[in-house]
Amino acid sequence: MLKRVDVEHLCPGMFVHEFCGSWMEHPFLRTRFLLNEPNDLERLRATTIRQVWIDTSKGLDIPAEVTAAEEVDSPPEETDKQLAQQAKPSSTSKELHQARAIIGQARETLKTMLHDVRLGRPPDLPAAGQLIDEMTLSIKRNPHALISLARLKTADNYSYMHSIAVGALMIGLARRMGHDDNQVRQAGLAGLLHDVGKTRVPLTVLNKPGPLDPQEWAIMKSHAQWGYEILQPLPLDESIAEACLHHHEKIDGSGYPDGLKQSEISLLARMASICDVYDAVTSDRPYKEGWQPAIALQRMAQWTPQQFDKSIFQQFVQTVGIYPLGSLVRLQSEHLAIVLDVSDNRLLTPQVRRFYCLREQRRITPGIVDLALPEANNSITGREDPADWPFKNLDELWHGFSSTHSNSQP
Ligand SMILES: [Fe+2]
Repeated sequence: MLKRVDVEHLCPGMFVHEFCGSWMEHPFLRTRFLLNEPNDLERLRATTIRQVWIDTSKGLDIPAEVTAAEEVDSPPEETDKQLAQQAKPSSTSKELHQARAIIGQARETLKTMLHDVRLGRPPDLPAAGQLIDEMTLSIKRNPHALISLARLKTADNYSYMHSIAVGALMIGLARRMGHDDNQVRQAGLAGLLHDVGKTRVPLTVLNKPGPLDPQEWAIMKSHAQWGYEILQPLPLDESIAEACLHHHEKIDGSGYPDGLKQSEISLLARMASICDVYDAVTSDRPYKEGWQPAIALQRMAQWTPQQFDKSIFQQFVQTVGIYPLGSLVRLQSEHLAIVLDVSDNRLLTPQVRRFYCLREQRRITPGIVDLALPEANNSITGREDPADWPFKNLDELWHGFSSTHSNSQP
């Protein structure tokens, strides 16, 4: 049974089902949890929240002498219905529009948050939590749109976009690994905040266009420890600060700062390491062009025995797809094409946009081919490295086109 009770009647062992107030009014990153942390009650009483819903089937009931403000047998359907509505599956082309808006908003949130941290103020956690919820809904509607768009960066927004991209990848990976809603939120926050320690790295080092000298490199590497110091005192799950501290550890013990090996590295840190490297190598930087997603996965697979947790990496490949959006591929029909859309049940037969004929060695009028349709009579025969071809701006071939204009001609 759900009971709406005054905050002063809460006690350890009760299960909080929902706060009667908005995200902005409380510091918790979970909305449903057992009140078992000693300072949870204190933190809750310090907010403007006056009442909460408790679930007596999952935790202690109120004492007999206390009266609940309201009682219902089952959860108020409205919130769950609204959430289900907001998470209804959406096509990639449709979700790309929403994802673009979320990223625009996320950039502003990150900008303010990192500015605050630079000034020694704590990051705005409710804003970060809200952002993670928005991003999670987008990924629930379509697992590829937000992740693929967040890969596209410019020199001046790299640090914000990298945080957003790693947050999005962590959400997608945690969902793929079967984590519950609360764990997905922790993973998203760990991704969003993993490089928060870079706010203490001098800009001359952070933005240096050339290679770092040993002293600068030592400063740069301190960002993991600095991030931990910033996050550890905050009312966040300890695993988030821990992931920040160890996201540069490698599975063979050759990483930093502690040279941890295998399962000595926490699960969230092992996940963050993969998401961080994937986004870094697939992003364009002033000094190097990013690798195409499929090429990045291929190379990361070769590094896996030394660097990454093998089983998490396999789940990661499933998350972004064997041929992620934007991959350059060669078709059986002797065309080059860009991957436009993928889904779980058609990882090897995505929708692609072909634009170049290899036999005639010339560009052709771009056309969409749905490789899952039998009448397409076509398939992917291999990945291609764009570095081997003179094409510019390949990314423009996938993120502005609608899959509704599909035709299946081979
Ligand atoms: Fe980092």
